[in-house]
Amino acid sequence: MREIKVGIIGLGTVGGGAISILTRNREQIVRKLGFPLDIAAVCDLNAKSRTLPDGLEGALVTEDWRELVSHPNVDIVAELVGGTGAAREMVEAAIANGKAVVTANKELMGLQGVALGRLAAEKGVPLAMEASVCGGIPIHAVLKEGICADSVRAFYGILNGTSNYILTEIEQHGKAFDDVLKEAQRLGFAEANPTADVGGFDARSKLVLLALLAFGARVEPASVPTEGIERITPTDFRYAKQAGCTIRLLCAAEATEEGVFLSVRPSLIPVTTILAGVQGAYNAVWVKGDFGADTFYYGRGAGPLPTGVAVVSDLMRVARELRHGSAARVSPFSFTDPRD
Ligand code: HSE
Repeated sequence: MREIKVGIIGLGTVGGGAISILTRNREQIVRKLGFPLDIAAVCDLNAKSRTLPDGLEGALVTEDWRELVSHPNVDIVAELVGGTGAAREMVEAAIANGKAVVTANKELMGLQGVALGRLAAEKGVPLAMEASVCGGIPIHAVLKEGICADSVRAFYGILNGTSNYILTEIEQHGKAFDDVLKEAQRLGFAEANPTADVGGFDARSKLVLLALLAFGARVEPASVPTEGIERITPTDFRYAKQAGCTIRLLCAAEATEEGVFLSVRPSLIPVTTILAGVQGAYNAVWVKGDFGADTFYYGRGAGPLPTGVAVVSDLMRVARELRHGSAARVSPFSFTDPRD
């Protein structure tokens, strides 16, 4: 059987984390897979003039993503660029060329994921996106496989690491919003344009994706009531404390007879609940199933290595699927027929 090779587009925070794990944890990855998973090519806008991460010896280095997605040695394309413009073209072209795709792109998957999933299914190639929601928490795997026998009634999440980091720094140290945001950018949590983080839009994309996985329900992101954390001050935390609460950017999803209701908004959370203990750049998802009742998932929601683990775990999952000829083993969104 042939070996499986990876092409990585985007050498930013997530791409760097993924390359570091593929390189530093290579031996364990080979032992787990039973075959090597090597990087055949990398692409970035300024790949030829920048210092590249270690571990790329022998890999094609290009600034032209079209060269990477059509390269005969690349079996799996990892789209780690983000956004919905060029990234969409990259994913479509990779699928059209018969490549499997792994992506961390919540915005693209939240908006176009179902259509792209159909393209991948038609072409018979896997599409995987574990890193798109909650960085280091394997919530896709949980909903697609771990608890797929359950019927999810509701879930609640803290889905944006930057917002949670900012809120807990304001709460614990009374720091100014702008200073904490800069720190979150330095640590690699915040997006290049942090409006998406603090405005609730990053969390909204993730919420929409989780609603697909949990309920099989397709929800237009723009239709989700969304409020960010920009207006939260230390004074709000003082009032919250008097009421026995803290404040978190809460993503809520409920499936009712009337339909699926989603929202993103800063919410008072009683300090006695498990969600109140989620601090810093950590994320959490609390799932309520009809049969299995409550389950709770917790972990780092952002940062190069936790997100890198999600990307590389997807690469390993997809490599196994390619190796064993089972691309459509599990639908990318858990349900085979996502509905409006
Ligand atoms: N900016 C995102 C966050 C990164 O802060 O959660 C992970 O999606």
